[in-house]
Amino acid sequence: MKGKPIVIAIDGTSASGKSTNAKRVAAALGYTYVDTGAMYRTLAWYCVQQQIDLEDVKAITATLKKWKTKLVCSDKAVYLTVDGYHPVKEIRTSATSAAVPKVAAIPAVRSWMKKVQRECVQFGNIVMEGRDIGSAIFPETDFKFYLDASLDERSRRREADGVVENLAERDKKDTQRAVSPLVISLGATLVNTSKLTPEETTAMLLEEIHAKLAKRKLPS
Ligand code: DC
Repeated sequence: MKGKPIVIAIDGTSASGKSTNAKRVAAALGYTYVDTGAMYRTLAWYCVQQQIDLEDVKAITATLKKWKTKLVCSDKAVYLTVDGYHPVKEIRTSATSAAVPKVAAIPAVRSWMKKVQRECVQFGNIVMEGRDIGSAIFPETDFKFYLDASLDERSRRREADGVVENLAERDKKDTQRAVSPLVISLGATLVNTSKLTPEETTAMLLEEIHAKLAKRKLPS
């Protein structure tokens, strides 16, 4: 691979279509997919499992120095293992979902995540989805997207996936936390997916990415 790896940042609200489209874009381009929400979920799951008080910032901060994690890239997707274990189902339970905003609001957690997430370029070109990728993790990238959809449509999508979640509450926590809140970062392309199919959304993202890559005269 020539030059610096390309980072495509896909941020947005919960159930706005970030995961679906980030995976589709990564597959279409042959880039590696990184789900940063899964990394926060892994920490939340680990804390719950270790019976660490989620209100105890010092204990969670100390955990970051102790837990044995590894960044693994397999089948063009990056994930964190803890003590060699890759939690998949465990990080999607309602207990983990309830715990994750607490750990995600801790400044030391966000700096730890930033370091680890920036290391993901060791795997080459990436499509990284999250809440602060364009604003805090890779602010230097030229490829920034912010996905959103109406609250009704997002709630409908979550229900269709069999997940009952108070998305308005989640939005509030994501946008109002003091450190790295969910914001539309400077230079991001805003895509409202309310009335778009995943195919249409992916096509829009790819069109812009290909146009930017062509301008740079880089092979896409
Ligand atoms: O995308 P998700 O629902 O799996 O994210 C889980 C939680 O992690 C959610 O509360 C938002 C938070 N998160 C974050 O603060 N920053 C990120 N880059 C990704 C997720």
